Amino acid sequence: MVKNKMPLVMLKTLLFLVLFLPLFSSYISAQTRDPGELFPPDKIFLLEEPRDWQNTEEIMDRLHLGAGDIVADIGAGSGYFTVPLASRVGDKGLVFAEDIQIEMVNYISKKVEALELKNVRVIFGKPEDPSLLDNFFDLVFLANTYHELETPFLMLENIKKDLRYSGRLAIIDWDPAKQSPFGPPIEEKVPENTVINELERAGFELIEKHNFMPYHYFLVFRKKSY
Ligand SMILES: C[S@@+](CC[C@H](N)C(=O)[O-])C[C@H]1O[C@@H](n2cnc3c(N)ncnc32)[C@H](O)[C@@H]1O
Repeated sequence: MVKNKMPLVMLKTLLFLVLFLPLFSSYISAQTRDPGELFPPDKIFLLEEPRDWQNTEEIMDRLHLGAGDIVADIGAGSGYFTVPLASRVGDKGLVFAEDIQIEMVNYISKKVEALELKNVRVIFGKPEDPSLLDNFFDLVFLANTYHELETPFLMLENIKKDLRYSGRLAIIDWDPAKQSPFGPPIEEKVPENTVINELERAGFELIEKHNFMPYHYFLVFRKKSY
């Protein structure tokens, strides 16, 4: 009896592996894609240098923010984008500036205090979870941060929960297909297609692609409606 059952069990196991291994392996490989180095806090002054090459006002215009919108700036660093985001959403809006390095969080807190920005909240998050509020955000914004994410899929699951039904996720990051005189090493840059594939697998769909940036891609997603 046992002798006869063995081949069937093996066959079922084999069938299972053939059918499901590709799914697991792509999930695992995306989840464990080598992340870039975390931006070193002792170089925070570099994040404060003016970036003609990043055209902040053009980025802000293309985000189509309205007064009263609620935005999360994930991986906010020195708060370079937090300030213009806060100005766009106005007094009735809110910007949550989040980072996982305490030095960045302290730096932004001081900046927010010095500039008397009443509509900014500073959050010390976890690598897999920005620790925000569910179903709360009109826009989640990640600039120069996606390539540093240690667990992109867990992060995206949490972002999905935090976004409102009509909320958008904007990702701006270094494009390895565009040569740049500065930025992270090329092997740390994540290709645009990888980002789009990872986002699609995580349940997002691409709704806008902006091509004006010389060293970056700028992608906007929303949650897929099933
Ligand atoms: C290169 S800086 C970019 C800062 C800012 N967005 C900008 O463009 O000026 C990347 C920031 O992302 C933060 N970071 C990396 N992984 C993160 C994660 N999983 N969650 C939140 N922040 C993260 C780093 O600590 C760092 O401050």
